[in-house]
Amino acid sequence: MSFSLTMGVYMKIAIDGPASSGKSTIAKLLSKKLKFEYIDTGALYRAITYIINKENIDLQDEYKISNIINSSIFRFDKNKLYMNDICIETEIRKNIISKKVSEVAAQPYIRILINKVIRNTSDNSENIIIDGRDIGTVVLPDANFKIYLDASPKIRAKRRYIELIEKNEPVILEKLEEEIIERDYYDSNRAVDPLKIADDAIIIVTDDMNIGQVVNKIYDLVNNDL
Ligand code: DC
Repeated sequence: MSFSLTMGVYMKIAIDGPASSGKSTIAKLLSKKLKFEYIDTGALYRAITYIINKENIDLQDEYKISNIINSSIFRFDKNKLYMNDICIETEIRKNIISKKVSEVAAQPYIRILINKVIRNTSDNSENIIIDGRDIGTVVLPDANFKIYLDASPKIRAKRRYIELIEKNEPVILEKLEEEIIERDYYDSNRAVDPLKIADDAIIIVTDDMNIGQVVNKIYDLVNNDL
């Protein structure tokens, strides 16, 4: 299929994959290169986790959490997440949030509300890249491109270790690898919208690739179709 951006046919790209597979970094660079909008859906689940943690809300308090999601305005500005005009990017990337977010993202009622936020943004956008766990399978089953990024837990733990050490967060490499394996299990085995490879996804294993190589590979795939 061929797309002509000038004729009003727009493109949606879904990028899925497990924790620390580089989705967000790659999606950000790709969105810049293609001049597409970008939504990091993991950041939205992190934002809810951050509020639940900060205000010590019971995860089963569906009424309170639903109210918070429905009455909040989420926006990305220069790829940083703002919730009601407050930038929460630093807080949501902390390891304490990473450890708690899978449980929050497994709540069906939270997924329904977050998916609404994502679809609203997507419907109002022309060309967009969305990354997450269930974008190609559930949120955008009609995406023009579905990419599934993967890498071994060891490599992902190493990448995450470097990232957190650069932010002065005290972490132990072996512990990070255990947490990543645990998060993979949780994300892939939850009852609702688990992490799964879409039948029509292009799988890219990034163990032996650097970020630039992955970005270029996806860029070439997309560009050949424009
Ligand atoms: O990509 P990330 O590590 O920032 O994602 C945070 C968590 O949110 C992760 O445990 C999986 C979950 N998630 C999800 O369930 N569905 C999405 N579309 C995006 C993220």
